[in-house]
Amino acid sequence: MTQSLRAVRVSDRVYWVGAIDWGVRDFHGYLTGRGTTYNAYLVMATKVALIDTVRAPFTPELLQRIGSVTDPEKIDYVICNHAEMDHSGALPAVIAAVKPERVFASGRGVEALGRHFHLDHEITGVKDGESLSLGDATLTFVETPMLHWPDNMVTYLADEHVLFSNDAFGMHLATSERFADEIDEAILKAEAGRYFANILMPLAAVVSKGLEKVGKLGLAIDIIAPSHGPIRRRAQDISGILRLYSTWAAGQRRRKAVVVYDTMWHSTDMMAQAVGDGLAAGGASVRVMPLKSCHRSDVAAEVLDAGALVVGTAELNRGMLPAVADALSYLKGLKPRGLIGAAFGSYGWSGGAVQEVEAALRQMKVELAGESVRVKYVPDAQDLAQCAALGAQVAEKLKAP
Ligand code: FEO
Repeated sequence: MTQSLRAVRVSDRVYWVGAIDWGVRDFHGYLTGRGTTYNAYLVMATKVALIDTVRAPFTPELLQRIGSVTDPEKIDYVICNHAEMDHSGALPAVIAAVKPERVFASGRGVEALGRHFHLDHEITGVKDGESLSLGDATLTFVETPMLHWPDNMVTYLADEHVLFSNDAFGMHLATSERFADEIDEAILKAEAGRYFANILMPLAAVVSKGLEKVGKLGLAIDIIAPSHGPIRRRAQDISGILRLYSTWAAGQRRRKAVVVYDTMWHSTDMMAQAVGDGLAAGGASVRVMPLKSCHRSDVAAEVLDAGALVVGTAELNRGMLPAVADALSYLKGLKPRGLIGAAFGSYGWSGGAVQEVEAALRQMKVELAGESVRVKYVPDAQDLAQCAALGAQVAEKLKAP
């Protein structure tokens, strides 16, 4: 194999040996507009450990980067923090190339990896809090179930205060820079929020518990090495992401409304603008998001800190437009809590589409803040004033704590 791709040194004994996926744009339904990375790490202690692998097509990249530090066959242990294929896809090829002495995963990870790869190589289950000696260094495993699958765990290298946090504290961001302090802060905050909204929002309560659990262990953390996106090595970057996670996990919301809609012949579009105007006049910060140009994951990212979700649809065959059904189904799965909302739309036949939206919002436990506005065919000035009034009503309700 030609050796061209190189590892990046993270600390004394730790090297980043992952892969950069510049081109991925669909991550199980999440639009990853800036690509992603699949981070894997090599710990060069007396015993050499590889922490996580990469998505299967990136196996050559992983092996090349490992090869820039050591012969892959020198790896003694492979640690699988998480069985999802973006981190485990290369595992069968890595086992074949490296012939490790042992492969470790959580108890649930052993089962999940077995079901994924039907491997001949035995996977050793580790218990919550168990440690593994690497000779002159020690790895400790902490189970973090549902961050983001039942099998997840994080690995801690006490000797260098490095937390290999897997999916937690990550983001989908492909960059040539490996460290957060080398990247624009606004991009980091936006992508970390987008990742939390689209991956972790339904697990917010678990995130809080996980943070509490790691906090109680009192681990000194000088480096957070996640499985996606940049590594955090400055105290302010570490405290910054911990603070943001606490805020997001607590579901703290601003006086902000997201107006999401699809239109057929421009009527619902006009209504959306009027609703947005009413919200803004009432003092709310507004994001008007036409689904013809906004992806469902853009909407999720905006909903993360919004207090209101207002949904509009034109009617197709007595139901809501498919793009609206798609966005609502996606948002329902993400379980945003504590939202108020409203529905609006135009119709030509029965007017049932808006009722469908109302029902979907109720299912999502969104409290309806005003009576829905339905307009037959094309809105006139009075209809648009009603839409603006609905926006103002929602804005008024957003004032309440
Ligand atoms: Fe990045 Fe749940 O995998």
